[in-house]
Amino acid sequence: MLWQMVSSITDSFDSALNRWAVDIADPKPGEHLLDIGAGVGPSSLVAAHRGVQVTALEPSRFMRAGLSLRNRIANGPIRVVAGSVESIPLQNEVVDVAIAVNSFHHWQDRSKGLAEIHRVMKPAGRLYLVEEDFDSEQHSMSEAMNRFFSSHQELAVDPLVAQDELAGAGFSSMDMRSETVADEPVRLFSARR
Ligand SMILES: C[S@@+](CC[C@H](N)C(=O)[O-])C[C@H]1O[C@@H](n2cnc3c(N)ncnc32)[C@H](O)[C@@H]1O
Repeated sequence: MLWQMVSSITDSFDSALNRWAVDIADPKPGEHLLDIGAGVGPSSLVAAHRGVQVTALEPSRFMRAGLSLRNRIANGPIRVVAGSVESIPLQNEVVDVAIAVNSFHHWQDRSKGLAEIHRVMKPAGRLYLVEEDFDSEQHSMSEAMNRFFSSHQELAVDPLVAQDELAGAGFSSMDMRSETVADEPVRLFSARR
């Protein structure tokens, strides 16, 4: 179990889930992608390597330090920004695509965060929220997550509530899909501005 936890941390440097998330979001070269709760940048780096203009938003100084180091090694294609989704330090209508991988359930105020994403997105911008389903018994880490992070289950995003929150923030074309990525259950919430 400990090994699963350790490998999930090293995975966060470059995981199949992040590559899948970027494939689903399908940002085109030159488009502006906002990676919300970017961590050490696994999604940001994949997108930047595809010629996408990336802003990585990350509140944790520790995560940003790792991300900035990786960004420097990659010759700095990513704009690393300190801040949280509830107050995004960007102007209105500048983002084409926003993604958040395993970050949505951490937000302090999801309605406020979604309203902020809506504000910074261009009209017809696309939003993709990817959440591993740690509550599912199919997930190899469900037992470990519930044992080590007892609060994690309380944070799990209810799909119906999320749809309401997206609609409340002004998004349209909401969808929620369950997928399997690298043998693990995942939920994908998508919407358009
Ligand atoms: C499980 S990590 C996922 C990191 C990265 N997206 C990945 O796929 O490896 C969750 C991230 O969400 C960030 N986070 C927590 N609260 C946040 C908030 N209110 N706004 C933006 N990001 C937040 C954390 O600092 C952390 O880096």
